[in-house]
Amino acid sequence: MKGIRKAVFPVAGLGTRFLPATKAVPKEMLTVIDRPVIQWVVDEAKEAGIEHFIFVTGRNKGVIEDHFDRQFELEETLRRRGKREALEMLEKDLPQAGQTSFTRQQEPKGLGHAVWCARELVGNEPFALLLPDMLIQGMPGCLKQMMEVYERTGGNVIAVEEVPREDVHKYGVVGMGERLDDRSFRITSMVEKPPVEEAPSNFIISGRYILQPEIFDILAGQEPGAGGEIQITDAMKTLLERQEFWAVQYEGETHDCGSRLGFLEANVAFGLEHPEIGEDVRRMIGKLMAREI
Ligand code: G1P
Repeated sequence: MKGIRKAVFPVAGLGTRFLPATKAVPKEMLTVIDRPVIQWVVDEAKEAGIEHFIFVTGRNKGVIEDHFDRQFELEETLRRRGKREALEMLEKDLPQAGQTSFTRQQEPKGLGHAVWCARELVGNEPFALLLPDMLIQGMPGCLKQMMEVYERTGGNVIAVEEVPREDVHKYGVVGMGERLDDRSFRITSMVEKPPVEEAPSNFIISGRYILQPEIFDILAGQEPGAGGEIQITDAMKTLLERQEFWAVQYEGETHDCGSRLGFLEANVAFGLEHPEIGEDVRRMIGKLMAREI
């Protein structure tokens, strides 16, 4: 079985739900505490052993590329001022030379199309796909938990989460087959953003995938689906006729940063867990809650 070395991060979305914040700043660069959303997701991939980071970007996203590069003036200034800790942190976060690739999705044709844009960079090997909208606080991280299942099953692996039935229409939903263990099961069907009454379960796809490269040939001919967009879920549904798909109910807390509320929740949740400011965040929330409204 081939190991997973590469991860794809689709970061071409316009972020219209966060205007005006995202007028000049990509939504993936908005910060949760002191790290951009995309950095948290790259950290998760690194922890899982990923060695090559592929970003599918779009116009006005150049700053993401800058973020994963050196910033000489800044480093020099920090060095001169003796800010060793800050320097070491920047160094630790910096990918090694040649570990990142960037390509552009030229038109907003959907997530499936964005993934297809990475086909040459991924090549003929299985890969991880991480959607930065979903921030997952897991110990270990979600992708690492998925890797452990993949090592046993091979095939394709998707992270799923149980949500209240009335929320399934916002996500891709999977049908449940035989259990592998108490945290993973075989996937029998998939549907993107179904009406509640047509959903095969309340297990939603939560933005982390391990996929075999055959997905690219299917994506090449994929017709638009839900929302008039080329959907990765539709392509996976076709692949499911030929290959196995396994679901992982990861341990951890998911924050859907695609919405303002989810983004705020991520900030509060990561703040509470933060080793330096966690206690203060708790006190601050207590103070705010005690206010007379
Ligand atoms: C995408 C996927 C969907 C998944 C969701 C998770 O939808 O198509 O299957 O459940 O991400 O965030 P989007 O949020 O891009 O509409």
